[in-house]
Amino acid sequence: MNEIKSLDNKIIVKPYSPNLGAVVTGINLSNPISSNDLICIKNMFNKFQVLFFQEQSEISPENHVALGKDFGPLHVHPAAPKMKGYPEIFEIHTDKNSKFSNGAEDFHSDVSCDLEPPLGTMLQLHILPEYGGDTMFANMYMAYEALSKPMQIFLEGLNAFHESEHFYKGRYTDGDKVDKNLQYPSALHPIIRTHPETKKKAIYVNRFFTTRIDGLNQQESKLILDYLFNYCENIDFQIRYRWNKNDMAFWDNRCTLHKAIWDYHPMERKGRRVTIKGTRPY
Ligand code: SIN
Repeated sequence: MNEIKSLDNKIIVKPYSPNLGAVVTGINLSNPISSNDLICIKNMFNKFQVLFFQEQSEISPENHVALGKDFGPLHVHPAAPKMKGYPEIFEIHTDKNSKFSNGAEDFHSDVSCDLEPPLGTMLQLHILPEYGGDTMFANMYMAYEALSKPMQIFLEGLNAFHESEHFYKGRYTDGDKVDKNLQYPSALHPIIRTHPETKKKAIYVNRFFTTRIDGLNQQESKLILDYLFNYCENIDFQIRYRWNKNDMAFWDNRCTLHKAIWDYHPMERKGRRVTIKGTRPY
């Protein structure tokens, strides 16, 4: 077995697939995490890019916020409705009345339109459809490394705009009422970013937010972005995760993309997520 254990043999980390991801057991996320366990989780997070904590019970909003803060200050979503009393929590909920999914129906990196986009996201699902509702993740280190050298060099010289108004406007409300007061973030980020901890390079564009490449004309920009969106979604870079009730997924937005499959309507799927603030991509 390729499993890894914490020094005291308590936490067990098993690779989920050669591409990315690992399943973590032996730790109850509702309890405070010791500094040794935190070091172990951070190391595994950098190694596997997405961790699936299994055998969990439903974490309270208060403990979810505290857990997220173990990894850094929390990010507040610019557009999604806030949970009462917990502005850092984004509630994920779809059921028979939902007209579209929870805003994750295409591959993306969370809120990449922010100047300092979130480092990572911690999502726990409490209600699952009887079947379906999986989440897919794609490894953007692998995508970068599989490019030819000339393509890597070409892309490394480019920055792209990540915008949000087209995506967020009206998505979480019935009309313009709430949206009117919203500021829709936008930012210019390198197409190839360096992970601040692993120092590895990853492709950093996605269909939701990346709108155009700085310095290229519209036709060139569209051509390259369409190519990259399709390329990054190559099945060879992906995994597909089937949730168990109360699993907590913790993904790295700096080197992965993810997509929630909305194949379960009219069944219900519900959970909560927090995101941890990141730094400016370089
Ligand atoms: C998200 O992008 O935060 C949602 C992912 C999911 O619902 O699986």
